[in-house]
Amino acid sequence: MNTGVTEPAPAKVNLYLHVTGCRTDGYHTLDSLVVFAGIGDTVQAAPAGTLSLAITGPEAGSLAAEPDNLVLRAARGLAAAAGREAAATLRLTKRLPVASGIGGGSADAAAALRALGALWGTRTDDATALALGADVPACLACQPVRMSGIGEVLGPVPPIPKLGIVLANPRLALPTPAVFARRSGPFSPPAALAPRWPDLASFVQDLGALRNDLEAPAMALCPPIAEVLSALRALPGCLLARMSGSGATCFGLFATPAAAAAAARLLPAIWWHWGGGVFDAPVRAPQA
Ligand code: C5P
Repeated sequence: MNTGVTEPAPAKVNLYLHVTGCRTDGYHTLDSLVVFAGIGDTVQAAPAGTLSLAITGPEAGSLAAEPDNLVLRAARGLAAAAGREAAATLRLTKRLPVASGIGGGSADAAAALRALGALWGTRTDDATALALGADVPACLACQPVRMSGIGEVLGPVPPIPKLGIVLANPRLALPTPAVFARRSGPFSPPAALAPRWPDLASFVQDLGALRNDLEAPAMALCPPIAEVLSALRALPGCLLARMSGSGATCFGLFATPAAAAAAARLLPAIWWHWGGGVFDAPVRAPQA
């Protein structure tokens, strides 16, 4: 019996995010260094005669298995591109808060594309991935990437020194379009990064000179983000704290996953939070 395919959907973390311009269709061009954290959702796909989705896990309550759920849209998009019927039993285990700047929906869609690609023996083309969301191509790659365009241009990054990450969210959902709409002022140039980072100190120094251009507009819409950033900066061993994506999740960088895990335990229990290392489990290639 084919019990199906299980794919991780780790949290996406934008270590910096420069908004470099705005296209005529309203989408913004970005320059961002994206890594993935060792926590995430999980998507399982198994053979079936029809398409269905069941959602479980600690954050399942905030999400309905409705037709426009990104996992179902990914299944339909992949099936349409492959010219086959969208038939599979999908299970989503939801651990990441929704609308929180760590790519939960995009990561789930990407994991569904990988799982169904393996199940159906088909590959995801770039247009199918991008049509599901600007972060889906990076989440499909599921490894450190430098993202540009509106998210569809992925470039390599030098090896990232071993580090620990704390994620903290004030339990307030923040819609991405509202944050982009609130952004104002001149656009940023792409970042000037060192060709390689010999150690964590040089990496953090490089990042420290950069920023997330969506932090100020997100904070205007969601003032508790400032408290989250202050709390992260006050944690013992925090090297740098910043918001990820369009928020409201913020991250802190630490020298080791153990230091991050210990520090995360000091954050207020009412916030969603996690501490550990970067995602480093093997991921199925997007091409089946
Ligand atoms: O592609 P996605 O569905 O994630 O984008 C949601 C919204 O966020 C877009 O409709 C747009 O308003 C904004 N956005 C943007 N530029 C990007 C990504 C998203 O303006 N690169």
